[in-house]
Amino acid sequence: MKKKVLIDCDPGHDDMIAIMLACCSKDIEVLGITTVAGNQTGDKTYLNAHKVLKMISREDLKIARGYDFPLFRKLVTAPEIHGVSGLDGAALPEISIKTKPEHAVDFIISTIMSSKEKVWLIPTGPLTNVASSLLKEPKIKEKIEKIVLMGGAVFDSNITPSAEFNIFVDPEAARILFESGLPITMVGLDVTNKALFTFEDIDLLDSFGGKVSKVVAPLLRFFARTNLEIFSFPGAPLHDALAVAYVIDPTVLTTKYWNVKIETKGEFTSGRTVVDVYNITGDKPNAEVAMEVDLSKFKNMIFTMIKRYDELACSHIL
Ligand code: BDR
Ligand code: CA
Repeated sequence: MKKKVLIDCDPGHDDMIAIMLACCSKDIEVLGITTVAGNQTGDKTYLNAHKVLKMISREDLKIARGYDFPLFRKLVTAPEIHGVSGLDGAALPEISIKTKPEHAVDFIISTIMSSKEKVWLIPTGPLTNVASSLLKEPKIKEKIEKIVLMGGAVFDSNITPSAEFNIFVDPEAARILFESGLPITMVGLDVTNKALFTFEDIDLLDSFGGKVSKVVAPLLRFFARTNLEIFSFPGAPLHDALAVAYVIDPTVLTTKYWNVKIETKGEFTSGRTVVDVYNITGDKPNAEVAMEVDLSKFKNMIFTMIKRYDELACSHIL
């Protein structure tokens, strides 16, 4: 039976690959997409989600727009990584959005409550929408199978010397999730920084020559270049796609069950995921933390997915 999935995201190049991977999987049914401000402002991430679905001819899927700001903080965006549009690097199809959408929080709640089966949540941006949904309708907890989120790290960081971007942008929201008692898998930088699509991988993908690969390759090249400039990475870390890959095939990651707390006050450490690797506090583990990735399995999933979209010859590609 297909896993029922909601993706809450802030596209974003790696969010785009995450959405594409989920929509292409025979093991997953995407119930809808919700967007949040993060990599770019709320209007841009919402628009980008529409562009991605148009590119893969999945405009049948509902997209609900969520919060433009974190719960208690000013928004921090990442134009230095994802560009001014949030998806710089290639011309994606133009979109005009007419209908006033249901708020993401209401959509998350109604989708979960009306689903016959339990729902998997895959948040790949700041956790504002998901935390707000839990606060507004705590009953959804009984109908959530698991939260597999991209965020945090045991050792690594990317927005400050101690924090990962998604958790840093809205640490209070992250704290609500990690204290919720829900089953959580934290797919953090310890593994996602290894999930690199190198420049050679991108050239190979470009050589497929299909309608989708021709658009995705320059987008990933842009994302790889910014990651090379800022982090000296020899490629594009497909952070968010790794969370989706894990839901499709759990053998792609190796996890450890640990206690994770979210730092919300630290002068230098706000947004840090404090992982009690040696159980020094004695506190109960509350999250599976991804520590190893089967890189060839993951890359294979991405290549296969792009090939499949090329074969479908999605009609809306420019
Ligand atoms: C996370 O931050 C964003 O820039 C990416 O889309 C990913 O979700 C990585 O830290
Ligand atoms: Ca993201």
